[in-house]
Formats: sequence, structure tokens, C-alpha cells
Amino acid sequence: MALTTTASRLPLHVKARWETYPNSDVKRFPVPDGKVPWSMSWHEYVPVEYTNPKVLAGPVWADPEIRGPKAVKMKFNRVDGKINRRSHMKPDYDTPNGVPRNPCGRTGITGRGELGKWGPNHAADPLVTRWKRDDNGQEQIDPKTKKKILQFIAICRKDSGEWAIPGGMVDAGETVSVTLRREFGEEAMNSLDAPKKDQKKIEKAVKDLFKHGIEVYRGYVDDPRNTDNCWMETIAVNFHDGTGNSVGKFALHAGDDAGAVQWTDISASLKLFASHESFIEKVAIRLDAHW
Ligand code: BGC
Repeated sequence: MALTTTASRLPLHVKARWETYPNSDVKRFPVPDGKVPWSMSWHEYVPVEYTNPKVLAGPVWADPEIRGPKAVKMKFNRVDGKINRRSHMKPDYDTPNGVPRNPCGRTGITGRGELGKWGPNHAADPLVTRWKRDDNGQEQIDPKTKKKILQFIAICRKDSGEWAIPGGMVDAGETVSVTLRREFGEEAMNSLDAPKKDQKKIEKAVKDLFKHGIEVYRGYVDDPRNTDNCWMETIAVNFHDGTGNSVGKFALHAGDDAGAVQWTDISASLKLFASHESFIEKVAIRLDAHW
């Protein structure tokens, strides 16, 4: 169960307050639970300013600077050209002095860290599931909960080495359904263990399965890259192969190296990247599966 702040029922930062910021030795200003909400005044708060130099170098996926002589005006809480700067959360996020403020509170760090966009950075997560079966095709039941066991396609992330849903960032001008298919293709499909001649069949199976997704989550993500001025949001969509005859029948190259992909049993003991466990729990509830 994700923790929430009592004041607002918003998710309480846990990973977004991890001491060391990812891929750096930058330490966040420590924020106790009670001081996460902006509604709690805190004069002693001195967050650390940090934006990774690769973001400052201005790659296509990153915004320009928001302050200083080269500052560029951005249209926050709106679709700004091809970039969706709207949050999935309501009400709209605040922009004191023209800089977006994290709607879920303090993180101990200002600037953009590893993230490209000021404000919300949008991702999409395809949650592809099947029932776990034995060699005879019999669905597997958990002895304790007496419920069927679900499996999902997990990848080992190249950046953090953690297991995760094969999601990714929504590119400028892209619709979420395109991101879901593209990311699944890039991250997971190459690893489907099937002869070359079956490639077309696999593509068709994925295309058909992806026509029938059920959205299980839309909103803020407690991501270790979040800062006081930018944060991750996602839409997680479940594509369930109930008969196991579609994508579910394909084996995956196992392994636990970065970049590996595998069918993974779903249960409450999963430890995954960012808030991915909580999206998976929603799928288990939806399909009345073992958790
Ligand atoms: C990942 C998504 C994840 C999002 C928020 C993206 O980098 O690819 O899977 O949900 O970040 O943590």
C-alpha cells in the first residue's frame, strides 16, 4: 500500500527523498515526513540545487533554462506546442516565480536533476500479463491465497539495475498508446524467444493484444529522480493474455543482467523500480489474482 500524506492524500515521497540522487553523489537536504507538504511552513529548508550536466547540455528531450539571461518562457499546465505540460493530478500545479512546484511536496533538491522537463515528465507503462501455467498448460494456484498466479513481463533497467515494467517516456507529440507499443517493442520484444520466421506472428500478437488495454493507473510516480521542480507521471495500462495463446505463449530470454527481460511472478514480495509495485498490485486486484 503506498503511503500518503495525511493532509492531502497525495503519495508521500519515499524514493523521491532517497539520500543520494541517482547517478551522482549529490545528497538531498533531509526532509522529515511531516515537512513533505508545502502547507507545512519550514524556514530552515535549504534544498540542494542540482541539474545533471547532460541535461544542461540541451539534448532534444530537455527544456531550456528557466532563469537567467537565456531563459525561455514555457506554458505550464497546458499543452505547449508538442509538449504536454499538464499534470494528471488535479488541481493544477503551482508555479511560484514562474517555476513549477512539485505537487507532492518537498524532495530536498531543486533544479531538474536527471529529468529533462520542468514540471511533469510523462511516461507510459505497458503491463503485459498472463496466468502462470505448468508444462501441461494448467494454471498455477498459490497454496496460501488459493488464487491464480499472474506473471508480467519485467525488464532489468539499464540505468538502475532494478526490475521494472518496460515503460518509457512519452516523446513530444506522441500519443500514449503509441508510446506503450514503442517502448514494449524496444525494451521487451527483441527478447521474445521465437524463431525468426515467427517474428511476423509475434508482431501481430502484440498488435492485437495492445488493442484491448485497461488503464490501471494515471498520475504521479514516487521516482528517485523527482525534484522540487520536476517529477515523473505515468499512465499504466494492463494488456492481459487470459488464454495464454497470444504474447503469453512466447518464452523470454531469462537472465538478470541489465537489459534482461523475463516473465515474473506477481506477489506482494516484488521489489521494483519507482512505484511499479503499486501499479502491479492494482492489476492483481483487477484480475483477482494472488498478491
Ligand atoms: C520509466 C517508466 C516509469 C517512469 C516513472 C520512466 O523512466 O521508463 O517505467 O514508470 O519513469 O518512474
